[in-house]
Amino acid sequence: MRSRGWRGSIGAARTAKEASKASTVSETREEKAAGEESEAGTRWSKRCKDRTKYTFLRFRERGRERGKRKKIMKAVVKLQKGKGFVEYKDMPEPQITEDEVLIEVKAVAICGSDIHIYHDAHPMWPPMIMGHEFSGVIVKTGSKVKNWKVGDRISSETKTKSCGLCFFCQTGNAQICPDKRPFGIGIDGAMAKYVAGPAKLLHVLPDSISFEAASLCEPIAVCVHGLLERTKVTAGETVFVSGAGPIGLISAMLAKAAGAFVIVSDLFDNKLKKAKELGVDVIINPKNENVAEKVNGLTKNLGVDLVVECSGAAPAIKTAFELVRRHGKICALGLSGKPSIEMPWDVAIFKAPKVTFCFSSGWSAWETTIKMIERKQIFPEKIITHKLPLEKWKEAFEAIEKGEAIKVILMP
Ligand SMILES: NC(=O)c1ccc[n+]([C@@H]2O[C@H](COP(=O)([O-])OP(=O)(O)OC[C@H]3O[C@@H](n4cnc5c(N)ncnc54)[C@H](O)[C@@H]3O)[C@@H](O)[C@H]2O)c1
Ligand SMILES: [Zn+2]
Ligand SMILES: [Zn+2]
Repeated sequence: MRSRGWRGSIGAARTAKEASKASTVSETREEKAAGEESEAGTRWSKRCKDRTKYTFLRFRERGRERGKRKKIMKAVVKLQKGKGFVEYKDMPEPQITEDEVLIEVKAVAICGSDIHIYHDAHPMWPPMIMGHEFSGVIVKTGSKVKNWKVGDRISSETKTKSCGLCFFCQTGNAQICPDKRPFGIGIDGAMAKYVAGPAKLLHVLPDSISFEAASLCEPIAVCVHGLLERTKVTAGETVFVSGAGPIGLISAMLAKAAGAFVIVSDLFDNKLKKAKELGVDVIINPKNENVAEKVNGLTKNLGVDLVVECSGAAPAIKTAFELVRRHGKICALGLSGKPSIEMPWDVAIFKAPKVTFCFSSGWSAWETTIKMIERKQIFPEKIITHKLPLEKWKEAFEAIEKGEAIKVILMP
């Protein structure tokens, strides 16, 4: 009641004021009322028009957003931690932020870590679309992206979510930033039609490099970082590569390209055959031959200058210390998947080799990788044994696990 009275008195005062004002001008009350009415009518119809226009725009925008949201794609998704929980399913197409690009995936390779993720034996942050080894074409750029355009052929480093502020990021090693959450492991990856990623991690691909070859940039860059940048393999050295999976075979190719004499070991003859095809000098199957005896024979009992450990297998890690020469080098790449591994400590002390543990790669290794593929110093296509459509991901995983396949490419 009180509030009504208060409003009422103001209303009355205003009316009185208007009335006295009206008497000072020549127009009559009726004329003014008619004028006000038509003015109000115009205002009202304008407001209606504006409102209709606004509503139309709002609905059009919503429709567009809904349209956007509706766009789905098929993807290989790890749904949750635990063994299995991988499905080929519908997922929304990714949206980009202002400093990202949308990439149409042309080829995505299966990595050993994808198999570990499948079996719950690798760090991960599910649910996420899997896949971190890929190549593709930019189909959309964020508003702040410079130097990249739609149609560019690219591959991308995987150090997504690195903070840019910590000691490692500031000293050029964002690949070991504790905040890193790589594609396909910590954020959505490339086993899908599209993947969104930061423009700053892209590398341009020359036209002469196929998308299939370029999808192997990531594992090649890991080996370039390990062999060329950290352990510095050089011409004339004798190099022993244990394990002839993709990492071992790439390492063997790099060591050959650097001018080394290369020995490769593996338990599978098909993998050793592939190593021979790639031009390595000697192959050894530890199941059939005594590795130490053979290496001693080849090096006049000196031992090898460099062992590149790419198997992660406990017996091979132990053998690495037997094979390396005094003051030689060991490049440790293979992950054991175990909490700890036995090693002949005293042998290591007496031989005093330089053991370099290597993890992931950075910008320079990536650029070296692309140059070496372009100049035909390494041949990624030669280790691709299977090429399958994305929906056959399970078949592909099984072929790797059975040891039938070396590198498998999935085509979304
Ligand atoms: N350090 C890194 O940044 C990095 C990056 C990628 C992969 N990796 C690791 O590197 C290793 C190799 O990767 P991959 O994709 O080639 O895996 P892979 O499983 O395909 O290859 C390992 C090979 O080692 C062979 N092997 C097993 N026991 C052996 C033994 N006693 N002697 C000789 N060979 C033996 C296997 O037959 C297999 O061919 C894996 O442990 C992987 O997790 C490390
Ligand atoms: Zn990988
Ligand atoms: Zn950091």
